[in-house]
Amino acid sequence: MTSALAPGVPALFSPAYYQNPHPTLAWLRDHSPVHEFPFPVGDVRTWMVTRYDDVRAVLADSRFSAETGAWAGDDFREAGLVSAAGTILERGIAVIDPPDHTRLRRLAMSAFTTRRVEQWRDTVRSVVDRVLEDCARRGTFDVMDDYAGEVSAGVLSAVLGFRIERHRELVTALNEAFPSDPALMDRVPAAFGRICEYAGELVEDKRRHPADDLTSALIQARDEDNRLDGDELTGLVAAFIMGGSDTVRGFIGNAVHALLDHPGESARLRAEPGLAKSAVEELLRYEGALHTALFRVTTEPVELSGVKLPAGAPVIAGLLAANRDPRRFAEPDSLRFTGESPRHVGFGHGLHNCIGAALARMEGEIAIPALVTRFPGLTLAVPRDQVRYIENWAIRRLTSLPVTPRAEHGEP
Ligand code: HEM
Repeated sequence: MTSALAPGVPALFSPAYYQNPHPTLAWLRDHSPVHEFPFPVGDVRTWMVTRYDDVRAVLADSRFSAETGAWAGDDFREAGLVSAAGTILERGIAVIDPPDHTRLRRLAMSAFTTRRVEQWRDTVRSVVDRVLEDCARRGTFDVMDDYAGEVSAGVLSAVLGFRIERHRELVTALNEAFPSDPALMDRVPAAFGRICEYAGELVEDKRRHPADDLTSALIQARDEDNRLDGDELTGLVAAFIMGGSDTVRGFIGNAVHALLDHPGESARLRAEPGLAKSAVEELLRYEGALHTALFRVTTEPVELSGVKLPAGAPVIAGLLAANRDPRRFAEPDSLRFTGESPRHVGFGHGLHNCIGAALARMEGEIAIPALVTRFPGLTLAVPRDQVRYIENWAIRRLTSLPVTPRAEHGEP
């Protein structure tokens, strides 16, 4: 599996790929856009799709099912690749097809409205302000743990209505559910279990003490005479906890890393607050928080870019690859704030596109400019080649990003 695709081009999901996936993704887009390879877990025959148009086609086509448990072969199931198998999340919103998905999504959307998201703007601002002050007190700090992690967990706790004493436990469980260190993989199932448990307890708590938060709104959500049942509710809250934490954390970290590499763009963001909205879109395109969407599996034979996929084929839509496709974006490897918002696939595409995108965008628009404005002389506190990414096939985020506000060292 670690053999190179071509001289100097690391194999997909190899250690070298995780540290810099772009040469591999560029090679695949040019030479093998619908690429068959053995998935590193279980050596399952899998296809990776890397061109922008193909990625959107996969995510919008019902012949590529999100219900992997129903359509994939025994080898896929036996390798443990059916997401959250054995938990209530096995039938969670992210891994079901219509009509079940349509019903669950409609109910979830009725609680997660644009108006409600807008009401959280002050909450996001106050979490960001508090965390910035904590970072200022620390001097050197880690953007991943001390800033992005605190902001994403703080906002999510407020949005879902977690009591503050659960907040710390949640941060720990989330860190264990998405480990940076592959040696800690054995803790993942228990951490997922704990997140489902928290979600269940939170739902019970909000049934007794409804408040102005998303969990209470989901309990109230009603569609004609239809309500979410107990497991669906708990599953949705757990999906929000998982979908809305490490992704936001990873994205803020990747964005700050990109801005440290591009001081000119960082200065423009400080000088022109009106750029924040489109800059967040460009940052999501340039280095979003996910390598890929979740697995899809073909329900029947399908031909894609000249490649014949059999029925039951596991397919991975490469979001990172699509967002750097020169067939779609001019100079895709450059980060440029032009004031235009690129039409990226960082939030996915089609029926399963990110339900939390409006909240994630708002967090990015507030948290990213706030950090570079509060610390205009921010510099890396370690040599750049020591900045490492986690080895996770779906999530693209840094293990840590130690920084120093340069002013602390007597410079302006
Ligand atoms: C920068 C941050 C985020 C990124 C990059 C992101 C990305 C994505 C992507 C790519 C998908 C589609 C996956 C697929 O098609 O397999 C998705 C779905 C989802 N996201 Fe996000 N997300 C982010 C933040 C959030 C937040 C803040 C929440 C909730 C609080 C959230 C909740 C969800 C849920 C529940 C789904 C499943 C939707 C469905 O299947 O209908 N995400 N996200």
